[in-house]
Amino acid sequence: MNCIAAVDSRWSIGQDGSLLVSIPTDMKFFKAMTDGKTVIMGRKTLESFPGKQPLKNRTNIVLSRNMDLEIPGAKVVHSVEEALQAVSGISPEDVFVIGGGSVYRDMLPYCDTAYITKIDYVYAADTSFPDLDADPEWELSEEGEERTYFDLIYSFNVYRRRAAAKG
Ligand SMILES: NC(=O)c1ccc[n+]([C@@H]2O[C@H](COP(=O)([O-])OP(=O)(O)OC[C@H]3O[C@@H](n4cnc5c(N)ncnc54)[C@H](OP(=O)(O)O)[C@@H]3O)[C@@H](O)[C@H]2O)c1
Repeated sequence: MNCIAAVDSRWSIGQDGSLLVSIPTDMKFFKAMTDGKTVIMGRKTLESFPGKQPLKNRTNIVLSRNMDLEIPGAKVVHSVEEALQAVSGISPEDVFVIGGGSVYRDMLPYCDTAYITKIDYVYAADTSFPDLDADPEWELSEEGEERTYFDLIYSFNVYRRRAAAKG
């Protein structure tokens, strides 16, 4: 399973229910990577989308502890286990965890590839992605070329879970 996120220099991802910044090329990258695939998100991330609507042309799975929640166009699941069950018949490479902070944290143990748009800036933020540079279970496997959006510098990086050390 994959996860995909845009993080700043401190691995922050959001503030007040919104993204820190919206970089058009990153939005296109996100769409291209997840198009036709299955996405898993938290209820708050769904509510951050335009019109609070599920993403088009993707199978949307939304995590919520609210047993009464129904979302047209999305499957609501109530636990990590239920989310894993919902994607059990799908190739793991076709499943993307798309946030937010709490869902990245809960689902990271089940991910082996992380597509991280790294933005070289420090924003005021209240939500973050786990710092994969500080996590010995993960390694930076592809560092994208430096790109710019106005005065922001960013790159598309790929982290992979290290193969388990042989005992
Ligand atoms: N930079 C990026 O790439 C990126 C991507 C996505 C989101 N974001 C940002 O991240 C922020 C939102 O993140 P967040 O952590 O506040 O919220 P979130 O993870 O999107 O949603 C949290 C909600 O999901 C449900 N949930 C989470 N874990 C669950 C579990 N194990 N079992 C059942 N339900 C579970 C709960 O819903 P209920 O309250 O309904 O029970 C919980 O309140 C926003 O600022 C957003 O813009 C950034």
